[in-house]
Amino acid sequence: MANPIISLTEDHFIASGAFCRCYRHPQEGTQCIKLTTDNKKSNKRLRADLAYFKKLHHRNVDLNYISDYIGTCGTNLGKGYIFECVTNSDHSVSLTLEHYLTSGELQLEDYLKELHQLGIHLLHNRILISDLHAKNILLQLSPSEPPKPIIVDGLGDTVIITVQNIFKSHVHSKIIRRWNRFLKRILKNHPDLESLLKTITLSTEDIPH
Ligand SMILES: Nc1ncnc2c1ncn2[C@@H]1O[C@H](COP(=O)(O)OP(=O)(O)O)[C@@H](O)[C@H]1O
Ligand SMILES: [Mg+2]
Repeated sequence: MANPIISLTEDHFIASGAFCRCYRHPQEGTQCIKLTTDNKKSNKRLRADLAYFKKLHHRNVDLNYISDYIGTCGTNLGKGYIFECVTNSDHSVSLTLEHYLTSGELQLEDYLKELHQLGIHLLHNRILISDLHAKNILLQLSPSEPPKPIIVDGLGDTVIITVQNIFKSHVHSKIIRRWNRFLKRILKNHPDLESLLKTITLSTEDIPH
């Protein structure tokens, strides 16, 4: 029997970016459903993310810091793509790193180590993020643990010819470059964070042997 159509309303709406509208799954609170927007690049972007998830699943990569892709579904608003929903210990949906950097509700010191761990995790597991951005990282809050950053969007590589990615050293250098660019982007809007962000830049010394 075909799966029933999932009915999404504005009550389930979480947030949207240029390419996706994200809703909480009405029945499965641990999942969210993404729908493409009218943006011309929307489908291409999503396809690139899903293709990269396929590679990561195939390689059995530890997705501890990434909201995993679960599958597709039918909704009243069109085809949906189901992902793990990033939630806090009180079951509310986690907010973006961008939110915490600008609202000042948390101090960067409170999760600096965890942010560094995220960078190291990407490097050690050779996970490429094409759009590493403070809006694509959510901070998962719990009273007993420091805030944990989780990536929800922008996986993979934007270059068309990815043949060089078979070389581990090439991928490592790319991850380091992208991570440090990500920190620089944060610095542009938050110059006061320079000395802290400097401590979590990645270098070739962080590459595992
Ligand atoms: N897995 C998720 N769990 C909770 N919220 C999410 C999740 N994925 C996305 N969101 C929210 O939806 C917003 C837009 O989703 P995103 O996938 O980044 O779309 P876009 O491709 O348009 O940037 C994110 O910035 C975030 O606030
Ligand atoms: Mg995004």
